[in-house]
Amino acid sequence: MSDPLPWREAWQHALYGPDGFYRRPEGPAGHFTTSSHGGLGAHLARALARLADEEGATHVVDVGAGRGELLTALRAERPALRLTGVDVVERPQGLPDDVRWMPSPGGPGLPDALTDLDDVLVVAHEWLDVVPCTVAEVDTDGRLRTVLVDPATGEESLGGPLGPDDAAWCAAHRPADGLPAGSRVEVGLARDRAWESLLGRVRRGTVLAVDYGHTREEHPVGGTLVAYREGVVVDPLPDGSRDLTAHVAVDSLRHDELTTQREALHRLLGRTGLPDHALARTDPAGYLAALADTSALTALTDPAGLGGFRWVLARVRPG
Ligand SMILES: C[S@@+](CC[C@H](N)C(=O)[O-])C[C@H]1O[C@@H](n2cnc3c(N)ncnc32)[C@H](O)[C@@H]1O
Repeated sequence: MSDPLPWREAWQHALYGPDGFYRRPEGPAGHFTTSSHGGLGAHLARALARLADEEGATHVVDVGAGRGELLTALRAERPALRLTGVDVVERPQGLPDDVRWMPSPGGPGLPDALTDLDDVLVVAHEWLDVVPCTVAEVDTDGRLRTVLVDPATGEESLGGPLGPDDAAWCAAHRPADGLPAGSRVEVGLARDRAWESLLGRVRRGTVLAVDYGHTREEHPVGGTLVAYREGVVVDPLPDGSRDLTAHVAVDSLRHDELTTQREALHRLLGRTGLPDHALARTDPAGYLAALADTSALTALTDPAGLGGFRWVLARVRPG
């Protein structure tokens, strides 16, 4: 037993404290796979390079870059792009020499040196879902209270009413009036502020968040806070041994475009189709490569899987 803390505090310490989960040597890819890994990452990189062209960007900054998987794929896809990675660890081994790297504090905090970005596409791929947020629960009187957690046991209890800023965010974006006791709101204010802080680093450019998300109409009142360790869903214990993530309230982020990964990739890469089987006789290796491409694109655009991820895009132009 230790003193219960608001989830946001316990979560920040568990992921980004001195022994935090994201400081572990194996990196995120040791625990889960995302669209930026392996064969999927090559296709995502192709789509992002096209988006960079459309947006007039010559520099791509990857915030929450893991161990540089997406940047490495981008370097292979488009050697002319300037690339910068930002994550909470020191420069990963094996990153191409011409990719710049900035260590970051973690969670909502960004490095001071990340500033005055011009002609840039900033990509935050699965960053906001690991920016810790307040977790609130409706009590038996119908009021939203802060959920506390014991970092040693994961046992939860209800703390006081929400602070005024979190309460105002809920009223505006995820009103809890009439929800039954036990319903939850993962308060998006900390993510909105982190997003604003990222947009504030850009003078001219485009910022893209790709993440698990929901809008007001889709509010998951059971909550989405979950933990992953070594590819398995485990209890959400904030002890540094596991990832802790909750879906992002995407509609409260300032944006110019809000779409799904499926729609975005169909637009940027076209639709997938099986290769002509005749190729299997004339170019067997080419046929197998084309089948692998189809399979990767099908996975990236699967509406029940990665294709359901939200793409939130905001443009920043000098005032
Ligand atoms: C869910 S992982 C995603 C990694 C990679 N983008 C991918 O999609 O595979 C989240 C990453 O965000 C990083 N992160 C969290 N807060 C950060 C911050 N403030 N600045 C930079 N990276 C951050 C974590 O360290 C972790 O590597």
